[in-house]
Amino acid sequence: MLILGIESSCDETAVSVCRMSDTQREVLSDCIRSQVEIHKLYGGVVPEIASRAHAEAICGLCTQALTQAGAELSDVDAIGVTATPGLVGALLVGVNFAKGLAYAAGKPLVAVNHIRGHIAAAYLAYPELKPPFFALVASGAHTSLVRVRDYTDHETVGRTRDDAVGEAFDKVARVMGIPYPGGAAMDALAKEGDPAAIRFPSAAIAGDNLDFSFSGLKTSVINYLNTCTQKGINPPQADVAACFTAAVCGGVTKKLALAYERYGFDRLVLAGGVAANSHLRAALTEFCDKRNIGFYLPPLHLCGDNGAMIAAQAYYEYCAGNLAGYDLNARATGK
Ligand code: KG4
Ligand code: ZN
Repeated sequence: MLILGIESSCDETAVSVCRMSDTQREVLSDCIRSQVEIHKLYGGVVPEIASRAHAEAICGLCTQALTQAGAELSDVDAIGVTATPGLVGALLVGVNFAKGLAYAAGKPLVAVNHIRGHIAAAYLAYPELKPPFFALVASGAHTSLVRVRDYTDHETVGRTRDDAVGEAFDKVARVMGIPYPGGAAMDALAKEGDPAAIRFPSAAIAGDNLDFSFSGLKTSVINYLNTCTQKGINPPQADVAACFTAAVCGGVTKKLALAYERYGFDRLVLAGGVAANSHLRAALTEFCDKRNIGFYLPPLHLCGDNGAMIAAQAYYEYCAGNLAGYDLNARATGK
């Protein structure tokens, strides 16, 4: 089947065509227009500007994705679109575009959950991968521990109770004078610092749960930076980045260890833009090696927001009979 996948939940407009079947998972085109340069001016994503930029880009990207795939709209078997979660105005652009396209071309419409989409990126990178497995979704907007029982049967067993992990990276970076999105620069800076120089609270919430808090950690780092400024001291930027990153990685690994005790998974998928973090990748590689867990880490272009992951998940939703009607609406939060 040829699936057209449309993504517009945050600050990337993306359209992809994938060929999917029981035995085939092929990305034929994966076109992305990032808005990072626009939002950089404001130090974060401005929802109204994001919606307008999606509206400008989506038609052209769709044409480009079809052309690159060597396909016509009439060749497409189903249209998948991210309907939740995300910025509602941004989601609405993709949802309404997909509805118009599906109506005009007489094609089935499939609503895709963005977090399921991030996980589905692993199917494209690893053709042999099939549920059940365990997934950590770590991005600018989400941090969840998910039991993937089947392609369309997911149970979120842990989540952040406040900020997402990428959001915390970006906000700490901003206070350190690093432009948005600062995650990648923090990654590089942390390599030069001492991860034991300053004690910051763990990102793991105390107790017998699988939840995280990145807001407390972020505030503690920002307080430390402000105290340095008040004392007229230049904060040790590399040490701050290294210690913040260590608190993130330590917290994530702690909750994964608890999840492993509880559920005993033998495969772990890392998904989302923060999967690019070299320290997190190293910590999770070690975690998995120690326990003989297979570690699935899709290439970086499939970890950030993209249309191919939406097309991949749309295929499995379609196979499960989960079709959307023309009354499909975008929801900021939800399943
Ligand atoms: O998945 P993604 O493209 O968008 C969302 O769905 O949110 O993730 C973007 C996030 C940003 O917060 C960015 O700073 C973060 O991923 N990020 C990183 C790194 N590369 C990107 N965070 C830490 N280390 C990195 N190397
Ligand atoms: Zn995302």
